This record gives sequence, structure tokens and C-alpha cells, in this order.
Amino acid sequence: MSGFPGGDIMRLIIEDDFKKLSKRAAKIIANAIIKKPDLVLGLATGSTPLGTYKELIKMYNKENLDFSQVVTFNLDEYYNISQDDKNSYNYYMHENLFKHINIKEENINIPKGNVKEIKDYCKEYDKKIKKCGGIDLQLLGIGNNGHIGFNEPDKELNLRTHLTKLTKSTIEANARFFNSIKEVPDRAITMGLSSIMNSKKILLLASGKNKTNIIEELLTKDKATTEIPASALLMHSNLTVILDEDAACNYKKRMKKGEKDEIIN
Ligand code: GLP
Repeated sequence: MSGFPGGDIMRLIIEDDFKKLSKRAAKIIANAIIKKPDLVLGLATGSTPLGTYKELIKMYNKENLDFSQVVTFNLDEYYNISQDDKNSYNYYMHENLFKHINIKEENINIPKGNVKEIKDYCKEYDKKIKKCGGIDLQLLGIGNNGHIGFNEPDKELNLRTHLTKLTKSTIEANARFFNSIKEVPDRAITMGLSSIMNSKKILLLASGKNKTNIIEELLTKDKATTEIPASALLMHSNLTVILDEDAACNYKKRMKKGEKDEIIN
């Protein structure tokens, strides 16, 4: 019997620490690029993917990992923020990954946070993903409240790319990147649940003690709920979850004997 929902289709990897988690995630991405040089790669922001991006840069420098044909789509962007604002995800992606590798600027897609015709723009973003053949591999982090991208817990979840309001808890969690909480935008553009779930493969990362409660909830509840948007991922047919020991801590405590062999180290 599997110890978690979706156990037949989900691959759960627990690494000792953030560094090892990052190396493992980067290796999975690198292998996907080697296998398909024109990989359509979905990317995430926040603290969690930073180590993965560092490892990918190392592989570009030392192992000739080639990004020249890779096409990327970012999950989300704050709304009403200019592309060169230091708090924009556009800035983050260029600083932490793109300017260090040989990706072509025209192959980079990040929702624009300052467009006027937002509905049309969101439709175009989804259309472009489709036109590129869909996302082959989507990298994801998870919010403390279970959000993915900026799909916040709610009664209903949007399926397509859309403009959304951020919850208080997300604004508080993300305030660490800003000078003050007042500067945190209260809205964002995000890919929707369907845009994410249509990815051929999903790689969800969680690191640190502050993620242990949500990971426990996600992996022990045998239910999908819009109150934990990440729970939709448990229905995906090709999901890999990589945790570090801190994030896995509560979940591991709840595991009974005999379920341990489900964990791949
Ligand atoms: C942000 C992003 C998410 C990210 C999450 C977790 O709000 N929109 O894509 O996964 O927060 O961030 P962190 O990795 O910093 O914990």
C-alpha cells in the first residue's frame, strides 16, 4: 500500500538538505534538456528554486548544458509592476538564471505585470504555451498555504492564466523580499490549474521547516481540495516531489512502518 495519495503515480524523493534537493532537481531538468534540446520548461520563482538555478548554471559552465533551444514559460508575475522593477519575477529570472546561460531572449516567456488588456493578454499567454506544444516539464514550489504559482486557496480555482488577488498569508510570506509589507503587490498574473496540470511532467520542490505542515497535509490527506491548490497535482500522471528532511519531517513522523520503502533516496 502506498503511504500517500496518488502513490501509484507520484515519485517522492527526500534529500538530506536544500543543496542535495537542488542538485537532484537540476539533474532532472538537465536530463530532460539533454533528451529534448528544445524542451518547453515551466519555471517558478521564490526561494526554493534558487539552488536549482545555481546548479543549472554550474552545469551550463562546466558540462556544456545547452539552453540554446530551450523555451521557458514562467508561472506568474506580480501585477502592476514594471519588468525592470527589482521585485518583479522578470528581474528575478534574469538575475538568477537567464543572464548566466545561453537561453535566447525570444524563447523566454514571463507574464507581463503591466499590461492594460489583461484578459486578452492572459489568453495569448495560454495560446502561446499551446502553440509551443505544451509544457514538457513544469518546476513548482509551494506556498505555505498550498498555493502553486499564485493559485490561492479558494472555493473555486481558475483553470487558465488570469489576474488574481493575493491572500494575506501570501502577502505576509512574500514581504521578506520587499522593503516593507506595504510594497508587496496585492495582485498577480498566474497560470491557472489547467495550464499547470497540462504539463507533461511536474517537479514539485519543498524545502525547510516552514513547509512541513503543508507537505504533511498534502501528502497524508487522500483528497483533492481547492483549499489546497497543490492537491490537484496528486492527480497528475507524472509528478515528482522532492523534499528536504526539514520539509518532510512531519510527514515522515506520520508514516507507519512498511510505508517507508515508498521513499526513494
Ligand atoms: C510565491 C510564488 C510561488 C512559490 C511560492 C513559494 O508566492 N508565486 O510560485 O512557489 O511563493 O515560495 P518560496 O519558494 O519562497 O517558499
